[in-house]
Amino acid sequence: MSLMGILDRVGDSPAFDKVIEPVRRAVQGALRPQAVNDFLHGTWLGHPLHPVLVHVPVGSWVSAGLLDLIPPLRPAATVLIGAGVAGAVPASLAGAADWAEADIGVRRLGALHAAANTAALGLYVGSLMARGRGRGSLGRVLAYAGLGVAGGSAAIGGHMSYAQSAGVSHSASAARALIPEWIDLGPLDDLPEGRPALRTGRGRSAAVPVAAVRRGARVDVFVAACSHLAGPLDEGTVEDVRGAQCLVCPRHGSAFDLGTGQPRRGPSANAQEKLEVRMEAGRVMARLAGRHG
Ligand code: FES
Repeated sequence: MSLMGILDRVGDSPAFDKVIEPVRRAVQGALRPQAVNDFLHGTWLGHPLHPVLVHVPVGSWVSAGLLDLIPPLRPAATVLIGAGVAGAVPASLAGAADWAEADIGVRRLGALHAAANTAALGLYVGSLMARGRGRGSLGRVLAYAGLGVAGGSAAIGGHMSYAQSAGVSHSASAARALIPEWIDLGPLDDLPEGRPALRTGRGRSAAVPVAAVRRGARVDVFVAACSHLAGPLDEGTVEDVRGAQCLVCPRHGSAFDLGTGQPRRGPSANAQEKLEVRMEAGRVMARLAGRHG
């Protein structure tokens, strides 16, 4: 079986759920303040924060591995290892926030990813301690072991993103199925005021649900699959969140600005796909922006 096949097995196995779920609840409790949660998810950035922050430990540790090969540069390698250890802390916190709101398969694989990262961090801390005591050879052995474990963990993280869709925009995936033509959503007067209504757009192989929100003569139309985990935004609510009228997902509470689609509250860090709208003889017409064609 391939390595990726083994990772898929881990994602399918409930063997460690009894351990994972209490940890998940503890993480959710520790990160309960919404502002902290949104910061760590990257909601303010419009992009998941975790993959941005992991550049610091990964870049520092890979560079340290190269510098350790050149004896005069080993003191610089020690500095980089310290920078990587320091950078691993915020990267881990951002990853933990995303993990606690992920699907079960991602949580299982994410637990393995976190365990491997913790092991790598421990090896690098051990390397720093050994170097501080003048035991440079041991410090280098521990650092290269840490680099190997961190590399394996990066492969797990990549599988979570590329194979399990962790952190990707599920609304962008749904949007790609839409045909980029004007869709007739029916008469404006048939749309309820101030709450989302389900309509469908013509897809390449099947109808694609969209959520239309009418406020007076204005209509905002979104792909109905929430960018976080494809929750049904047509079953959501319209609420004021941080000073903006938002469409709120019924699954985990992500709030998307009705005007822009940008997230105002997480866990989603990705914008919600919004269609352009025009009126034609009292009917609402909507079309996806051209970038998905
Ligand atoms: S599916 Fe999680 S917030 Fe929408």
